[in-house]
Amino acid sequence: MEHKLCHISELEERKPIAFDLEGLEVGIIFSKGQVYAYENNCPHFGGPVCLGDVFSQIKLELNDQQMVVDEYTDENELRLVCPWHGFEYELKTGKCTIEPNLSLRKFHAYLKENYVYLQSEQNE
Ligand code: FES
Repeated sequence: MEHKLCHISELEERKPIAFDLEGLEVGIIFSKGQVYAYENNCPHFGGPVCLGDVFSQIKLELNDQQMVVDEYTDENELRLVCPWHGFEYELKTGKCTIEPNLSLRKFHAYLKENYVYLQSEQNE
């Protein structure tokens, strides 16, 4: 089932917004022309994960002695952070970076004629 959610002008880069789809709360995150959609329900303890912040992954460069010689952010690897306990999820996949067994429930979201659409699983 296709849901028309909002006009693209309502989205801000890396600023999640939540929509209620008949009782199912879904967060939309816009980044670099892509839209991502996840259920606003953190699998850790049910927190409103899509109300959290989105940030670039921080990477460390180590020398041969495993000492940090550089620290930088990777703009291609974004993380969504749950505001309750700080679990981080890969924006592209919804996989938890702290607890590999946890993943956000992902939906197919896309842009069409400057509107954001979401495909729910209810096709019958
Ligand atoms: S409920 Fe999201 S990190 Fe705990």
